[in-house]
Amino acid sequence: MDWKKIYEERKCSAGEAVKLVKSGNRVVFAHAVAEPLVLVEALIANKEAYRNVTISHMVTLGKGEYSLPENKEHFTYEGWFTSPSTRKSLEEGHGEFVPVFFHEVPEMIRRDIFHVDVLFVTVAPPDENGKCCIGVSADYTMQAAKSADVILAEVNDQVPYVYGDCFIDVEEIDAFVETSHPLFELKPSKIGPTEEAIGKNCARLIEDGATLQLGIGAIPDAVLAQLGDKKHLGIHSEMFSDGVVDLYEKGVFDCSQKSLHKGKMIVTFLMGTKKLYDFVDHNPMVEMMPVDYVNHPEIIAKNSNMVCINACVQVDFMGQIVSECIGPKQISGVGGQVDFVRGAAMTHDGKGKAIIAMPSVTVKKDGSMVSKIVPYIDHGAAVTTSRCDADYVVTEYGVACMKGRTLHDRARQLIDIAHPDFREELKSQFKERFKIDY
Ligand code: COA
Repeated sequence: MDWKKIYEERKCSAGEAVKLVKSGNRVVFAHAVAEPLVLVEALIANKEAYRNVTISHMVTLGKGEYSLPENKEHFTYEGWFTSPSTRKSLEEGHGEFVPVFFHEVPEMIRRDIFHVDVLFVTVAPPDENGKCCIGVSADYTMQAAKSADVILAEVNDQVPYVYGDCFIDVEEIDAFVETSHPLFELKPSKIGPTEEAIGKNCARLIEDGATLQLGIGAIPDAVLAQLGDKKHLGIHSEMFSDGVVDLYEKGVFDCSQKSLHKGKMIVTFLMGTKKLYDFVDHNPMVEMMPVDYVNHPEIIAKNSNMVCINACVQVDFMGQIVSECIGPKQISGVGGQVDFVRGAAMTHDGKGKAIIAMPSVTVKKDGSMVSKIVPYIDHGAAVTTSRCDADYVVTEYGVACMKGRTLHDRARQLIDIAHPDFREELKSQFKERFKIDY
């Protein structure tokens, strides 16, 4: 049948569409900005119709109402990453968390370890070939679309049309709900003197011609702010935001030296402001691919001069990196951090660098400071990047190098880049821990 006819026949309201969800189903939400907020709202409004519906996704920017205790007989939240709106359900014990590398999520779906009954997704209106672009997410959303029994799509005419492997055929989609609203926007972070100093220390490790992976938040933004004088940088990253667009306009990111996908920015999802969404729209320089390709360490390793920059919560004297927990409290997930740390270590030219960058201290709500460099990680915390994987650790006070270094050397270097107010205490903890003087 003609795809236009199928589209017209399957067009309905959000309230009608969510009737296709049945008790006992697992509903997977497309990642981050691709979560269809109108459909999710309709699902919550129809909650009395459901018992034991499992909701799974990685980053959510939505309200996470399905994870509230009052909804627990209707929904169980089972996150593969967790976000501010869903954290509480994990703390209270009625939500569930699955530790998983980002690049492995599609394989888990393929193998039916994560069965997908229903996919909720946001797409752009179909193109002339009857294909709907997901626009801001290929990552695990593409595999979920291939494996799902049912696909419900919010068709938002403000979704950018991005090239790559990020399209679903109209025929595959069971219900179309037309909407038109601005996409979620992640505003650029505030960069203070600490972040600026971290940015400068990271920039020293980035050579002209490097290919970069950058995470979300103040640290990646601060690094980008220091790259204005670099030349021929490239992007092979799970995501990128507005800072990259500014540097592209200045001619810094031309991707001309990339050894893989020369001339192209490769990503698996997008999260920024309208400026970013306008930049990627119909832009032949940007290609979005599924995460089992972009984040696979073997693919990352094919990039020459690869530099990965991610953040963390805590680093211990041995170089164990905690990035997703505060003690036993799960605040995010492993995401793509280890994918890129390992990919950089495996690079074919031996020039890959994996940087973990962080302010030396966290300032708590009561104004007190906590050192992020510690002798031992907090009780109950999970190690995200292991001590064997750890490469560079950067704070506003400098750079510590972990690869191939002894435990004593690692600890000394880390103390040297700790906040000065904590160095003496850390030195005496060094003596206690290793039975030798700092
Ligand atoms: N002790 C106690 N609390 C700490 C802490 C420490 N050592 N370090 C951070 N925190 C708290 C902060 O105070 C903040 O609390 P709040 O939410 O109540 O304000 C919270 O943890 C988050 O810290 P912040 O520094 O604001 O985080 P961020 O937005 O810069 O994100 C990570 C940093 C590490 C949480 C984030 O990068 C992450 O989740 N990484 C893992 C996944 C990953 O790297 N993916 C690849 C890139 S997308």
